[in-house]
Amino acid sequence: MKTLFDVAVMGGGPGGYVAALRAAQRGLTVVCIDDGVNALGEPSPGGTCLNVGCIPSKSLLQSSELFVQIQHEAGIHGVKVADVSFDAAAMIQRKDAIVRRLTQGIRLLFDKNKVMHVSGLATLQGQQDDCWQLTVNEQTISAKNVVIATGSQPRQLAGVTVDNTHILDNGGALALTDCPVRLGVIGAGVIGLELGSVWNRVGAQVTLLEMAETFLPALEPRLAGDVRKALAASGLEMRFGVSIDAIERQNDEVVIRWRQGDNAQETRVDKLIVAIGREPRLSGVDLAALGLVPDTRGGIDVDALCRTGKPGLWAIGDVVRGPMLAHKAMEEGLVVADQIAGLPVEPVNFLLIPSVIYTQPEVAWIGENEVTLKAIGIPFTKGHSLFAGNGRALALGQDGGRCTLYADKRTDRVLGGAIVGPQASELINEIALAMAFSASGEDIACTVHAHPTLSEVIHEAAMALNKQALHG
Ligand code: NAI
Repeated sequence: MKTLFDVAVMGGGPGGYVAALRAAQRGLTVVCIDDGVNALGEPSPGGTCLNVGCIPSKSLLQSSELFVQIQHEAGIHGVKVADVSFDAAAMIQRKDAIVRRLTQGIRLLFDKNKVMHVSGLATLQGQQDDCWQLTVNEQTISAKNVVIATGSQPRQLAGVTVDNTHILDNGGALALTDCPVRLGVIGAGVIGLELGSVWNRVGAQVTLLEMAETFLPALEPRLAGDVRKALAASGLEMRFGVSIDAIERQNDEVVIRWRQGDNAQETRVDKLIVAIGREPRLSGVDLAALGLVPDTRGGIDVDALCRTGKPGLWAIGDVVRGPMLAHKAMEEGLVVADQIAGLPVEPVNFLLIPSVIYTQPEVAWIGENEVTLKAIGIPFTKGHSLFAGNGRALALGQDGGRCTLYADKRTDRVLGGAIVGPQASELINEIALAMAFSASGEDIACTVHAHPTLSEVIHEAAMALNKQALHG
């Protein structure tokens, strides 16, 4: 095996594999080292996103949503279905096949782009003669540049051991082959809401216990209120302002003792998911030994261009500051690869990174909102449009929700937006495009949107920014 590379990437998740592919496309010699292995014993690059995060959860969300639609919506369309039942093991099998196809696809992409892929856990040893030394599988690899893309791991709840049989992290919750009768979830964040929804849709009685008083604080209050109502109506029981006193296994039950103020309560469940956030994963990276200072989350401190301050040492994705999102990591991977190749780059602009929650309704937002604009004192206009007036949404039978756009009052430049409703995850990208190219509300309003499409909700909201809405 060749042992001197231009670039060694530690981690083959969305940040790492993208950095590796782009660096190779720029003509650099690249090795990507990843320790992911699937149940078949195959190397399984792709990190959390592909193996136990974004992709498997979307697969389960789709399957469980189909079950709900067949049960509750098919009849409205005149489709008569008798004896509907659910096979959780089949849902998991389908998810595993999707995950395998994508993870093995990354291995093919590595081959195609001449990226050397090494399966194993890399340890970064330090720098010697202008080269970084890493060890993996008892071999030493040298590289002029190292990109640390080691990702994140679930944050643990003090005193609670995740056994992935009764007390689960996201990995365990994605692998259940039987639907629990009673499911508890600690944390009503993105993972809690998505996985809680999956199992609620296929029959579990789901209780989410959330420490914060506020539901989805990153989302503006009115939209958060809409989502909370819709999820409660779908059967999710959510408690806020909760503090957990104790969690213990009693035979096949998990007993959660919790409090809301002085009101002590006990909830018994068959399975419990702990989804209280994630923390940087530093396996193979000893910050102190490398002379690096941890950031406020315990991850790697980097500047806007993902430089650690040590020549040739870069860090991207969940292990550094910023939102823990696959698409943010991918973008940083591109920025770092291009810098190593000597190309000019711009830092990743976090304001242009969309956030999505794939519940029903879907929720997506980007940039500024009413609360942040008031806080920073920018005068703004607001335009909104309801899916209730959108023909395609009605045809789909999903006419709940809205789109809100914000623009600078002085220039009409779009500063942010949020969508609650069908395909919000797809639609948000039009707002991202507008913001990335400094488009105005007028620019969107002047763009012909195909009819009838869900995207007309953005067109209508853009017209509303300048009080030109037709259907509002
Ligand atoms: P999160 O930060 O979204 O939510 C964690 C929730 O747990 C918060 O609401 C927090 O207040 C609550 N919490 C914390 N400690 C608690 C305690 N002791 N008791 C009760 N509640 C407590 O983190 P989550 O859901 O674990 O997701 C982790 C990361 O993965 C996030 O950064 C998220 O962005 C990312 N992710 C993104 C997805 C997407 O883009 N659709 C899907 C899933 C995860």
